[in-house]
Amino acid sequence: MMVSAPPDVVDTISGENRRVLVLLHGANLNLLGERPTEHYGTITLDELERQVEASASKRGWTCICHQTNHEGEFIEYVQVYRSAGALIVNPGAWTHYSYAIRDALELVTGPVAEVHLSKIDEREDWRGRSVIADVVQVRVAGKGPDGYEEAVTAVIDLAGG
Ligand code: DQA
Repeated sequence: MMVSAPPDVVDTISGENRRVLVLLHGANLNLLGERPTEHYGTITLDELERQVEASASKRGWTCICHQTNHEGEFIEYVQVYRSAGALIVNPGAWTHYSYAIRDALELVTGPVAEVHLSKIDEREDWRGRSVIADVVQVRVAGKGPDGYEEAVTAVIDLAGG
């Protein structure tokens, strides 16, 4: 399935105004609120997205949010939005093994933050490895929803505010 950004979004991110933050969530993150609360808390994806939109808005940025359970679709979102002002991604389990997502993120022009709700370094060994770590500028894990706030501030600052 090929995704394409709405024309107004493409106009916004290809013009002078690059104050567009894109938030991408990967596999199983649509079920936040049902997933183990000891790792992910009780917040739903919708609540998390509204929180990030509000944080971006306070800085005068627009936020576009997407979630998908399909790796190829996630890659297509990264490609479509590669010229956005900044990206925040939580690819879920793909973080730990998707070289294809890593290669797509390498082409993003603005700052990219990798965020995880849970403490990936303190769980199973395989979660401690991120194959996207070398192509992101900001990494936040284990801070729950607050980690996203931190990432919004960091990427917008890196993008020049
Ligand atoms: C996650 C951590 C991943 O290991 C896991 O597969 C997820 C969510 C997090 O936000 O903590 O789906 O990225």
